[in-house]
Amino acid sequence: MVVNFIVLVILAALAILFGWLTLRAVRARSTVVKIVGGILGVVATLIFAAASLIFAKGMYDLLRPYPVAAINVSIERTPEQIARGEHLAGLLCASCHTLNGELPLTGGKNLSEDSGLPLGDVYPPNITPGGKIKDLTDADIFRILRSGVEPSGRLTAMGFFPVRTLSDDDAKAVIAYLRQAPAIEGTRPPLSASPILVAFVGLGFITAPGAEQPIQAVTAPPKAVTKEYGEYIANFADCRGCHGEKLDGNAPPPAPPGASNLTVIVPKWSKDDFFKTMRTGVDPSGHQVQPPMPWKTIGKLDDVELEALYTYLHGLEPILANK
Ligand code: HEC
Ligand code: HEC
Repeated sequence: MVVNFIVLVILAALAILFGWLTLRAVRARSTVVKIVGGILGVVATLIFAAASLIFAKGMYDLLRPYPVAAINVSIERTPEQIARGEHLAGLLCASCHTLNGELPLTGGKNLSEDSGLPLGDVYPPNITPGGKIKDLTDADIFRILRSGVEPSGRLTAMGFFPVRTLSDDDAKAVIAYLRQAPAIEGTRPPLSASPILVAFVGLGFITAPGAEQPIQAVTAPPKAVTKEYGEYIANFADCRGCHGEKLDGNAPPPAPPGASNLTVIVPKWSKDDFFKTMRTGVDPSGHQVQPPMPWKTIGKLDDVELEALYTYLHGLEPILANK
């Protein structure tokens, strides 16, 4: 964050410098200097003033404390619940909190790598009982999943991801699993936002919509081959984070480049094509699906879940404008 303070000071200093140069130009004797210098000066001043404000907002949003409402979370820890939690952890949490996509959740690689942008250190930590969750209560973990906010009030990067759309039952199942998973030691570097990440937050390209809201009950549609259940999965698995709001492959940075237009591709595929692509990583044309497309973790959805996801995507209205 020291670097970010320096960047903020430089931006603000440039705004003041250009403001001063503008005044000097306007007072100059030559009309050409007055007009050309004045216009250029005003433009430069406005650009650096706006950049300073955006950057300051990004820093404020990352550093200010967020509400930590008391919540009551009781978890039964039945074998069924733990099994459901392990299943979800293996396909959702494991896509970030591991190096190879496989449980245990000993921590992942820097997520900056996927975006292709220097966003700083954004390492998903070790969340086995030997890691980050050691000092967290069930309610603390639930709050992190729903709002991204730590007990200290710090907004964690978890707030940026739609893990918050997991239903109460599914979130509790994950916590039930986390608690009884084997404890493994190990740490990852803490979050360190680069100036680019700060700017993205300031511009509103990266948001944490759950951080401000009171934590409310979330229920999932019944688990069945329906487009509603498929949409529930598409939401928590963050297909939109890479494939865009409309799933048409049009996602602005910091989304990784190159994600396909799902509204055109999946409607052309049979259920079998979709299953094979997600379970083998090879699509119907023989193309090996490239990272960071998380086909390995998506392929861990069970048959009902994967068919529900297919049903949802297959029913999308094709958007042809892109790719
Ligand atoms: C898209 C990637 C991603 C996914 C998916 C994800 N996480 Fe995270 N998680 C992160 C990152 C990055 C951090 C580090 C955040 C920070 O320190 O600001 C983190 C931090 C955490 C923390 C520690 C927060 C703290 O106190 O510092 C917990 C607990 C956690 N995740 C649980 C989970 C669980 C459980 C799941 C699955 C339901 C999950 N995460 C899915 C990326 C992810
Ligand atoms: C981390 C980013 C990321 C996430 C999350 C993601 N995708 Fe992708 N996806 C990609 C990229 C990048 C490609 C292009 C891969 C390639 O060209 O081989 C892709 C390609 C695809 C393809 C086309 C594969 C092919 O060979 O034509 C399908 C289908 C797909 N994704 C479905 C999904 C679904 C469904 C989800 C959510 C459950 C999802 N993706 C989540 C990044 C992502």
